[in-house]
Amino acid sequence: MNLVVVSNRVSRASANEPMTGGLAAALLPVVEKSGAIWVGSSGRVRDGAQKEPFAEIETLGAGALAMLDLPAAHYAGYYEGFANSALWPALHSRSDLIRSSHEDYKSYREVNSFMARALLRFRKPDTVFWIQDYHFLALGAELRDLGVTHPIGFFLHTPWPTRAIFGGVPNHRELVEAMLAYDLIGFQTDDDRNNFLSYVENDLGLDIAGGVVASRFGMSRCAVFPIGIDPARFAAHAAKAASHPDVSRLRRSLNGEKLAIGVDRVDYSKGLVNRLTAFDRMLTLQPQLKRTVSLLQIATLSRGTIEAYGDLQNQLAKLVSDINGRHGEVDWTPIRYLNKGFSQTVLAGLYRTAHVGLVTPLNDGMNLVAKEYVAAQNPVDPGVLVLSKFAGAANELDAALLVNPHDIDGMARTIATAFSMPLPERRMRWEAMMARLRAGTIQDWFSDFVEALQDAHAAGAKATGDHPPEDPPMVWPTRSFSAIVGNRFH
Ligand code: F6P
Repeated sequence: MNLVVVSNRVSRASANEPMTGGLAAALLPVVEKSGAIWVGSSGRVRDGAQKEPFAEIETLGAGALAMLDLPAAHYAGYYEGFANSALWPALHSRSDLIRSSHEDYKSYREVNSFMARALLRFRKPDTVFWIQDYHFLALGAELRDLGVTHPIGFFLHTPWPTRAIFGGVPNHRELVEAMLAYDLIGFQTDDDRNNFLSYVENDLGLDIAGGVVASRFGMSRCAVFPIGIDPARFAAHAAKAASHPDVSRLRRSLNGEKLAIGVDRVDYSKGLVNRLTAFDRMLTLQPQLKRTVSLLQIATLSRGTIEAYGDLQNQLAKLVSDINGRHGEVDWTPIRYLNKGFSQTVLAGLYRTAHVGLVTPLNDGMNLVAKEYVAAQNPVDPGVLVLSKFAGAANELDAALLVNPHDIDGMARTIATAFSMPLPERRMRWEAMMARLRAGTIQDWFSDFVEALQDAHAAGAKATGDHPPEDPPMVWPTRSFSAIVGNRFH
């Protein structure tokens, strides 16, 4: 089997480089080991009618990483436009933030179709395609229209909202119909899968018995695969990072204070305003906590050209300075607010230094920070996870202190409880959460999905032509691909 994994953002970084986004960081170690080809955007664009997609290709573990320059004329409409100003807000139940034009949708489809053409280069008789996330809802249909009959699976890293909310996305019907080209559609939680199936049943009028849907493409199976992490690897990073300068400086700077940590992209789905407001409220309700606790909020800037994100960046900067101004003392700052990223290793060390992990999104597919915070803890003196009940991770990490991020007073009280939790309770909760992390690792997620995809494909052959067109020759003008990865792909 030749696995081709596709996602908008890819990662060539090692554990020592900063990374943006849970998806790329999570996939890197497993894709590296699997020998798959990982195809995604290079982050650059290229003008004009490209005869052949331009890709930079390099080795990645036992496989390869192919980074494509996406079409310049369509990139903004695809990424900032339809993907992140129509789909992202809707998938996170923020229809009020949908801003999208018909041109954006056209660009989104153009980029999906461009990616499909680019993927033909990697097709071999035994290829399995695995498409990731909302940037490529229609990629499976584009591949089928090009005559691809191989197994094609899709995994959604974000939530899937109720049918009324998804109905607010322009061209929603066409998109869901296109998704049925996938043999297997994977979701993070039962709620996400049920919402999707409810749309298919009620809006498309299709039968959803057993989570299998028949469409013009053939059969599509919908199932749940909660994404995990590699807890042992993360724990090893955390232990190793103890001596890293950033981590030891942080430890020294605490002066006996207890630390809470938050690590998020600056995104309205992450509930940062509510979190900071709850921290503020806690200091107001329990002023004796001043000087004894503080918050380190790492907030990496993201999608800044989109108005909702720019506005949020400004709002957060103002809120932090307001809280620090009101509660701060000459020798104590309640919130340290950093707009920069850290490597996975340093992050693991920072998590282990913090007594409390704050993961309080308003809505989140899974949220791997929650899992990483737990895995990074010192087993003999673990910290406490405060987790939103609206993160997918709450299904497994129910031994965390679960909060409603809309209830500011409730969150304020829970954060204070977390700071003062006695050791036996911390250990009991931590051990329960670690057991869940060990029971569903990223390796399990990866292999379970690929196996289920092959089964789903075998169970319902797709209706498009039986014979794929001949593999086209390898023509990309890069360093010789075969020199890097041998003759496996052509
Ligand atoms: O997990 C959701 C996700 O959108 C990923 O697809 C993406 O890698 C990450 O968040 C970061 O977003 P972006 O790639 O837009 O910075």
